[in-house]
Amino acid sequence: MNTDKPIIVILGASGLVGQTLISILNQREFPRDELRLCSSPGGDGKQLAIDGKTYSTMPFEESVFDGADIVFFSGPDDLAPQYAPMAINKGAVVIDNSAHFRMKPSVPLIVPEVNAHAISKHSGIIANPNCTTSGLVCALAPIREKLGLEWVSAASYQAISGAGLKQKNDFIAGTKKAIEDNFQNPDPYELPFNLIPAVGSYTGVQNFSEEERLINETRKILEQPTLKIYPTCVRVPVINAHSIAVTFKTSENFKEGELEYILNNADGVRIVDDLTNRRFPTPVSADGIDDVLVGRIRRFEENIGGMWVVADNLRKGAALNSIQIAEILLKHEREKNG
Ligand SMILES: NC(=O)c1ccc[n+]([C@@H]2O[C@H](COP(=O)([O-])OP(=O)(O)OC[C@H]3O[C@@H](n4cnc5c(N)ncnc54)[C@H](OP(=O)(O)O)[C@@H]3O)[C@@H](O)[C@H]2O)c1
Repeated sequence: MNTDKPIIVILGASGLVGQTLISILNQREFPRDELRLCSSPGGDGKQLAIDGKTYSTMPFEESVFDGADIVFFSGPDDLAPQYAPMAINKGAVVIDNSAHFRMKPSVPLIVPEVNAHAISKHSGIIANPNCTTSGLVCALAPIREKLGLEWVSAASYQAISGAGLKQKNDFIAGTKKAIEDNFQNPDPYELPFNLIPAVGSYTGVQNFSEEERLINETRKILEQPTLKIYPTCVRVPVINAHSIAVTFKTSENFKEGELEYILNNADGVRIVDDLTNRRFPTPVSADGIDDVLVGRIRRFEENIGGMWVVADNLRKGAALNSIQIAEILLKHEREKNG
């Protein structure tokens, strides 16, 4: 791997995560020799306007992996098993935003603030968690570290950007139409001016797929396979940034102010909790922010606490987290090569 000037490929560059990847690579001055941007196969590619610059994507074809060092995959979930092996066979490391590889035992699932140590165990693929889990584990890990965790109840309020560009555009159009129609005959199962307690597909047993992911991925990242997690994931009419109302029971009792102390010293977390002045995390305040915002921090009982966690799902939930992984990967490779 060329660690000084890697060749970088983004698959799915024209999507919401892909465009955020381009923006953050530039912001963080991620080193590169070449940036290859792919949209779906066929057609002519696309022109993307990002931070005042125009980028051209090329339709996907396998030769895009020739000589590549790092491939960020941000295409549809079901295509990851087809594309990732092609990239690995040509010598690249894949940082995958899809759900496909996350729970495979041989694939590290990483949130750098929590389990960066697992990156070195990769064999070509490193997975990025789903967009709700990343924010949740950033806030839970430091609490678990100091006090232990017995169970977690998490109710998510997830923005439409978590579902991709088409769904975001459909939601905006549907909202405008609902206003034009003066709210006559709204579809009770569509998102505009509504809440949908079903994110992803129904698993057939109690949960929707997003809830299963929240349970399994949180356990894997926290390395606590039997942690009890009770999730309810809800799509809300918000454009970007996911919020989570979290209640948890710790193994050790904690005092008034102790959760604030712990979270104040946690990597990647920023407390916003000035209730008198009505300052707390909101999706709009978290949009475009790298930190996971935490507020409404409460001690309900001596070992039961609560908090309101909000994170930008396109940044900490996907693109930023992927790039943080890539930065650590390059550092490890440089150390290995002396
Ligand atoms: N959105 C989030 O907050 C979030 C967070 C974490 C993980 N993820 C995961 O990240 C991935 C991308 O999500 P997104 O929200 O960015 O989706 P999106 O906005 O729908 O973008 C999908 C991207 O995939 C490309 N694509 C579609 N079909 C393709 C094909 N056959 N071959 C190659 N590329 C193809 C699209 O290209 P065209 O423009 O040409 O169609 C587009 O660039 C998904 O796996 C998702 O589950 C998303």
